[in-house]
Amino acid sequence: MDINSDDVHDDSPDGPQEESGLAARSSDFRPEYRKKAIRSYVLRAGRMTEGQRNAFSSGWSFYGLRLDDGPIDAENIFGRKAPLVIEIGFGMGDSLLQMASAAPEQDFIGIEVHPPGVGRLIASAEEQQIKNLRVYLADATDVLNECIPANSLHRLQLYFPDPWHKKKHNKRRIVQPQFVQLVRDKLELGGVLHMATDWQHYAEQMLEVLEVAPGFKNTVGQQQYSPRPDYRPLTKFEKRGERLGHGVWDLLYQKRD
Ligand SMILES: C[S@@+](CC[C@H](N)C(=O)[O-])C[C@H]1O[C@@H](n2cnc3c(N)ncnc32)[C@H](O)[C@@H]1O
Repeated sequence: MDINSDDVHDDSPDGPQEESGLAARSSDFRPEYRKKAIRSYVLRAGRMTEGQRNAFSSGWSFYGLRLDDGPIDAENIFGRKAPLVIEIGFGMGDSLLQMASAAPEQDFIGIEVHPPGVGRLIASAEEQQIKNLRVYLADATDVLNECIPANSLHRLQLYFPDPWHKKKHNKRRIVQPQFVQLVRDKLELGGVLHMATDWQHYAEQMLEVLEVAPGFKNTVGQQQYSPRPDYRPLTKFEKRGERLGHGVWDLLYQKRD
């Protein structure tokens, strides 16, 4: 896999950390991204397990999509015409895999910059012989800008995005007016942007941005958070949070024009 060898940074939400070796530790499996002033993520210096590495070798040719390959033709990729769902920042991929398995009539594309998460998702997808799933190891805003055709998405999922909870870092949150308009361009008419967060301040920001975003309608009424739809699996993390009394906020906005 010829992932670009641009600089790999390590700018954590709490300030710069040691700059050494993520690239070396993740071998060739580097995320693709274009240079930009503000990023919504930290490239974590996580080691990949042997299983995750092997999954790249055995499964990338089927599951992998590349930023450098440009605009996609989903019908050609999946060999059929079906509702297309994109998930940004799937982490280790458990809930995305569960959703793809539970909805074989839909096609799913996951986008993540964390190589071990991508490796793990590919490994599990191979094991379960999941066919309606593909994955980018890349920056999601670059993928949306360069690879996803306008009016092509049935749903875009953004579950528990990095909260960037310090005030000085709030600008790194991915949900911003410009990002939301990029998503609007990619959704089909009636398509849905589905966000979930366990950070109340971020939930409030999502509500604030989307309520005034041109072209979107809150599916459950103005200024309202939505109940969790059945199709979004409840994660282990959420179940624990619920027991501890932590909140989770779902927000669903439909593209109306
Ligand atoms: C807090 S984690 C949540 C992971 C997962 N959705 C979950 O609920 O467990 C946020 C994830 O989003 C990824 N991420 C953030 N910004 C991204 C971007 N612009 N492109 C791709 N992935 C991104 C991060 O690497 C991280 O794995």
